[in-house]
Amino acid sequence: ANISGDVSSSPPPGTSKRAPHSIIIGVRKGGTRALLEMLDIHPEVAVAATEVHFFDWDENYAKGFEWYRELMPYSYPHQITVEKTPGYFTSALAPERICAMNSSIKLLLILRDPSERVISDYTQVYFNRLENRKPVQAIENLLVRNGALNVRYKAIQRSLYDVHIRNWLRHFPLEQIHIVDGDALIRDPLPELQKVERFLNLPPRIVSSNFYFNQTKGFYCIRSDGRERCLHESKGRPHPAVNSTVLQQLRSYLKEHNRTFFRLVKRTFDWQ
Ligand code: A3P
Repeated sequence: ANISGDVSSSPPPGTSKRAPHSIIIGVRKGGTRALLEMLDIHPEVAVAATEVHFFDWDENYAKGFEWYRELMPYSYPHQITVEKTPGYFTSALAPERICAMNSSIKLLLILRDPSERVISDYTQVYFNRLENRKPVQAIENLLVRNGALNVRYKAIQRSLYDVHIRNWLRHFPLEQIHIVDGDALIRDPLPELQKVERFLNLPPRIVSSNFYFNQTKGFYCIRSDGRERCLHESKGRPHPAVNSTVLQQLRSYLKEHNRTFFRLVKRTFDWQ
């Protein structure tokens, strides 16, 4: 629930910019924007409008904590502030830096089927490149090199959830990291949001009438404060069909990583 007030006016009395109480750390293409916008329905939540990239980009981290705090939304003392930067999850330095700011911060991690995430990641890059008039490649050409799975492809690297979570668990106990099931959030957002409310010790305020399914978009959209809105058109794009042999190669490579991840987080997901 962002505090309105036009940009030219001074902040509403009694509000201030405060360090986040919770951070959505990723994963890229996991549904991070949907989670942030849906959490923002809550009257006791204020969210940062843009991705901040403070803990993962050295040039921003060098600007210091005050620079970071300035990018937070105005909030009332009874509210919690949340920022999301999907790049944190796969950043080598973000866990240690976030821990140095606040070792008891509550972390939110939204994950979806990691092979689906690879395709979503490819799709985003594909459209960015088209927009910038750069050449594009078929997904199979990126996934496979000389007949073998190209495990160095960045989109695959980002889907190795076990590798990245280890880095977080070195600095935070598992209880401080709540994993949101991104596939479940697409199918039915409310139960996942209710779990987040409990994790953040928020009173239950998000209700089923806050969501409605938009047939044209093919996704749930948000109804809040008398307004209805769907996420930007870049969210929920159709994915290319991937050659089934290549897809099988990708899935079997990720299987072992997924198993390790389930063990580390003491929980399983129905990923293919
Ligand atoms: P696709 O565009 O590949 O379908 P992020 O915000 O982290 O970039 O994640 C984008 C993904 O959020 C989308 O990936 C989409 O599947 C997912 N998503 C989840 N809930 C959504 C919603 N209600 N509307 C649009 N996209 C949603």
